[in-house]
Amino acid sequence: MEIIEKAPAKINLGLDVLYKRDDGYHELEMIMASVDLSDRLILTAIPTDDIIIKTDNGFLPVDRKNNIYQAIDIMKKTYGFTQGVEVNLKKNLPVAAGLGGGSSDAAAAFRGVNRLFNLGATLEEMAKLSVPIGTDIPYCLYGQTALVTGVGDRVTPLSHPMPQCWIVLVKPKISVSTPRVFSKIQVDSLSHPNIKAIYHAIENQDYQEMIQHLGNSLESYTMEVFPIVKYVKNKMLEFGADAAVMSGSGPTVLALCKKRSRAVHVANALKGFCDEVYLVRTLNR
Ligand code: C5P
Repeated sequence: MEIIEKAPAKINLGLDVLYKRDDGYHELEMIMASVDLSDRLILTAIPTDDIIIKTDNGFLPVDRKNNIYQAIDIMKKTYGFTQGVEVNLKKNLPVAAGLGGGSSDAAAAFRGVNRLFNLGATLEEMAKLSVPIGTDIPYCLYGQTALVTGVGDRVTPLSHPMPQCWIVLVKPKISVSTPRVFSKIQVDSLSHPNIKAIYHAIENQDYQEMIQHLGNSLESYTMEVFPIVKYVKNKMLEFGADAAVMSGSGPTVLALCKKRSRAVHVANALKGFCDEVYLVRTLNR
């Protein structure tokens, strides 16, 4: 039997860093949503006791350094299935981009083996298991517009999806290390987006209100180290985006546009500055 799972990109409409915890992690408040740009995983059971990952992306590790491997391994240890698993990963999302690609792949692997072997694990149970592998995985397991708190481990789905719009994702040609960003930020000097305002705007399906409050506490640090990120955001606004904000720890910046024609214009204009430009839609969930 073959199981197919999609692994959509996540975006941060709001990311607030509240404080540094005693365990070294940061307490966060985020509004996250998913867009229709996805990796695809095909999982099959194999008779040997192995976890085999095959991918069209030659830069990704396929051993236990890969989040997919770790997700299947922890499910195997917890639920004790005896067969091995082969995963074919079609990679469409940019890597180390702030779009949660690795986390979404891992979440798809959790859901996939759960279905493949009828393990009966709930999203909540898998979310708990996933946190040591990556703090964006709990959100990716749910995959719907949500308020995400704690270190990323507490996911509260909103009762409405984010208002429909077009989104231009632009990833400058640099890699940002999330651990490095978190280790360098001075929490006292960060800006704090109004997460509750974004939350209420989405619940009221008020696009104009929502875009006024987009924000990311990590943006100023990443922009200082990588000025191209600020440049991209400014260009998006200059070319008519309704709003623009960096996703996660970066470097991807997202531009929101209610009108498709405007989004196409922003995407085409940005292609002159960056290779990786994607025009996507919100997922209606
Ligand atoms: O999401 P992930 O688990 O890959 O996070 C990478 C690193 O980012 C963590 O090891 C930690 O240093 C930092 N981090 C943090 N606070 C969070 C999430 C991540 O300090 N809430």
